Amino acid sequence: MKGIILAGGTGSRLWPMTISVSKQLLPVYDKPLIYYPLSTLMLAGVKDILIITAPEDEKKFRTLLGDGSQLGISISYTIQVKPEGIAQAFLLGEEFIGNESVALILGDNLFHGAGLTGLLQEGLGQFGARIFLHEVSNPGDYGVLNVDRDGNPTSIEEKPTNPISNLAVTGLYFFDYHVSDYAKLIKPGKRGELEITDLLQIYLEKKSLLSSRLPRGTTWLDTGTPASLHDASSYVRIIEERTDQKIACVEEISARNGWIQPEKLFDIASKYGKSKYGNYLTRVAKEIEDLAE
Ligand code: TTP
Repeated sequence: MKGIILAGGTGSRLWPMTISVSKQLLPVYDKPLIYYPLSTLMLAGVKDILIITAPEDEKKFRTLLGDGSQLGISISYTIQVKPEGIAQAFLLGEEFIGNESVALILGDNLFHGAGLTGLLQEGLGQFGARIFLHEVSNPGDYGVLNVDRDGNPTSIEEKPTNPISNLAVTGLYFFDYHVSDYAKLIKPGKRGELEITDLLQIYLEKKSLLSSRLPRGTTWLDTGTPASLHDASSYVRIIEERTDQKIACVEEISARNGWIQPEKLFDIASKYGKSKYGNYLTRVAKEIEDLAE
């Protein structure tokens, strides 16, 4: 299973914050936004990841995450010249995906909660496509899934004026290896973009679109506006301070997955000097060492 993080876009709703910095590099409390979608893929067990960025940002993402070896994973990069739609990820990523299935996550989506990891791992590598739904109070701002009486998906509507359900389609999708071929069949929509909804429609017509509702107690946030970005920071701060554990600490996830050794964590921690993040890595490394004894 491969993973793609779509981290380009214009970020126009966040201007002027995103004029010289990619949205996905902005801080969400104590770490860059991209750590959150990256951690979701890693928790699902995905180790081979492609990050798609705007041309001017690629270097900065490379500086931050390198080739992934620091995390015991592989990270490669490709650019999206213009933000021509979410489904374009599968054209840009065609060679990377090859004959494998792939998880796509939007670079500005944050998922958190117990039960999520198990749900993601169950859905990996299956035939067809799988979307993850979350109940929201403002479904008209999202893609909304309509289901029949038996709960089978019937259609997906993008930002409906009169939403039939409150089940929003979140920014995490699993696809089988057909995805790049199907992406070639779709045409730009009204916004001039290759719409993910049109791609999902193809799977729906082939009766191979599956959906999972994120369990109660799972949090899904997107960070596209100043208010939602601020909310995400507040959320992370409150949970981290209360639980004394970090959300989306990618080095911790790698170490707990056994992808890097505690020595590596000590190493990274020393590079982070006096930051709280560095202190936390030292603590986690000691914990893992103690568990192994
Ligand atoms: P959006 O929030 O829909 O778009 P945006 O990030 O450009 O922001 P705005 O609407 O404020 O101008 O994008 C959702 C995510 O997908 C975000 O992480 C950026 C990414 N994206 C791309 O990388 N390329 C694209 O072509 C599109 C449409 C989105």
